[in-house]
Amino acid sequence: MFAHRSRFCTNIASFPLMPKPPFELFVVVPPGLEALAAAELRDAGHPVEVVRGGLSWSAGWEGLMAAHLHSRIASRVLVRVARFGARALGELERKAGDVDWAAWLPPERRGDLSHPIPVEVSCRRSRLYHEGAVRERVLRAIGWETAGPSTAKASPEPWRLHVRVHRDTITISLDATGDHLHRRGYRRLTGSAPLRETLAAAALRASGWPLDRPLLDPFAGSGTIVIEAALIARRIPPALATASRRPPDFPFLEWEGAPAATWTTMIEDARERILPGAPAPILASDRDARSLEALAGNARAAGVEDDLSVRQASMSTASNTGGDPGWIVTNPPYGGRLGERSQLRPLYRSLGAQLAGPWSAWDFSAYVSDPVLEGALRRELSRRGAGPLDPLVKTRNGGIAVTLLGRPAPPPPAPPSDP
Ligand SMILES: C[S@@+](CC[C@H](N)C(=O)[O-])C[C@H]1O[C@@H](n2cnc3c(N)ncnc32)[C@H](O)[C@@H]1O
Repeated sequence: MFAHRSRFCTNIASFPLMPKPPFELFVVVPPGLEALAAAELRDAGHPVEVVRGGLSWSAGWEGLMAAHLHSRIASRVLVRVARFGARALGELERKAGDVDWAAWLPPERRGDLSHPIPVEVSCRRSRLYHEGAVRERVLRAIGWETAGPSTAKASPEPWRLHVRVHRDTITISLDATGDHLHRRGYRRLTGSAPLRETLAAAALRASGWPLDRPLLDPFAGSGTIVIEAALIARRIPPALATASRRPPDFPFLEWEGAPAATWTTMIEDARERILPGAPAPILASDRDARSLEALAGNARAAGVEDDLSVRQASMSTASNTGGDPGWIVTNPPYGGRLGERSQLRPLYRSLGAQLAGPWSAWDFSAYVSDPVLEGALRRELSRRGAGPLDPLVKTRNGGIAVTLLGRPAPPPPAPPSDP
């Protein structure tokens, strides 16, 4: 868990003045994607630790900035302010009042309860279960510290608290991120059931796609997987994923002491590393013309339209991709949202036929949700003597439980031996 956890558990009155590094960061990650998100940040040289629901990490401003610039899988980053036990509202208010709020929040965000700072609360398995009451007590604790008129802008709000009450332990964190990190800024239009950008990036990473080999999404919809693939292949960080290559105004940039010059240098360095084009073909197809219009608009907004080859085609005819086989990473219709199981069963069978036939030399990964449709796909593969699919990742997309199934491409046949 946290390297400096004892600092948070015991005497909160002795907190150092903050926000000053090292920060105790909690990187929130979609469930099931923690190991992938950790690998991504470790590859970039950051020693994160996997914990339930995310990653913990003691980091300075550069680490906080790097997580926002480079993590394609994380949802948001929280900076721990306090952690203590409380089983009653009075105890909560007293201990929250012991926090040195003057060190964390500017005066105009501490006193004026008519314009309270946003506080998100979640209570689980605790005596304190009423989220509204917890929120009110935390706000009162902040208001006790100093009073003064509010001059803060209503939006964007750089100070937003998260209060987690779990097993009678209260964890108060400041949200460094603001808008969810999956909102990269390029998604202007959606198809029928878009995949979250973070999940698309996770699938690409879990698939083992080596960036310099062709990539195909035959159910491309509004293009999340292929756009994320192009961004990754061109080394475009997720925070620079719009055509302007300008980062969002993350709240932490307004915090006292945030080194703006460090952020500027990191952005400039990242821009310099961007490749002019993807090293291998990135192919997208879908049968639906309107989804492909959305894809084209989104790809333009991400500034990667020239990296994609897009065509309107049904999956069963999309096999004519030409060139070398590569990686298929895709997100077929699940059933629940786009149609009935019985209508989709033939589609999953025909996907199995494709994988056993024209796509037999392709590496394959796909998010599936419905066990019956998954069974239809598996049976078709086994009936045709093709290799099995393994579960690579289990997570949730928009509240739906999904599994990323995968199979590596079979090794090429051995050359005939000399007589
Ligand atoms: C779950 S959506 C994909 C969403 C996409 N990942 C995105 O982020 O927008 C599934 C897509 O499969 C397409 N589709 C359904 N049946 C198809 C078929 N037989 N051939 C090709 N595309 C098909 C739908 O038009 C839809 O865009």
